[in-house]
Amino acid sequence: MRRAVCPGSFDPITNGHLDIIGRASRLYDEVYVAVMINKAKKGLFEIEERIELIREVTADYGNVRVEAFHGLLVDFCKQRDIPAIVKGLRAVSDFDYELQMAQMNNGLTGVETLFVPTNPTYSFLSSSLVKEVAAWGGDVSHLVPAPVLEALNKRLRKD
Ligand code: PNS
Repeated sequence: MRRAVCPGSFDPITNGHLDIIGRASRLYDEVYVAVMINKAKKGLFEIEERIELIREVTADYGNVRVEAFHGLLVDFCKQRDIPAIVKGLRAVSDFDYELQMAQMNNGLTGVETLFVPTNPTYSFLSSSLVKEVAAWGGDVSHLVPAPVLEALNKRLRKD
C-alpha cells in the first residue's frame, strides 16, 4: 500500500489544494489530508468544519482520508506508516520555506517530501487571499469548490 499525506491548514480548502490532492490520489493508493492544528492561529473555520468541507469535496476520489492532527507532521506520518509528504509549489517564493521544512522533516524521521508544480490557473491562490476577497464581497466562485463558497458566504455574512 503506497501512502502519502497532503498537509495544511485548509482554512478553507481551495481549488488549488483540491488540484494537488486529486493529483496525489492518482499517484498513491491512499492519500491522507492532514488538517494540522495550530492553536496560535485562530482560523475562520473550526477544524471540524474544515474537515467536513474537505471530506465533501474529495468524496469522489475514493482513496482520500481526512484527519486533524495536533503535533509534528513527521509524527502523523510515523503513526500511519506514511513515507511521503506531497506539497504544491505555487511559485519560487514558496520554495525557501518549503525546502527548509522538507529538509527538517527528512532529518527528523527520513520522511520524503515530493513537490508538485501547482496548476498555473491557481498559482496566485491562497486561503488567506480567498478569505480577504470574499470578506470584501469579491467573487471567489472560480477559486473554491461550491460547498466552500456556500460556507464562506454564510460565515462572512452571519458572524
Ligand atoms: O497550509 P499551511 O498553513 O501553509 O500548512 C503548513 C503546515 C501545516 C503544513 C506546516 O506548518 C506543518 O507541517 N505544521 C505541523 C507542525 C510541524 O510539523 N512543524 C515542523 C515543520 S518542519
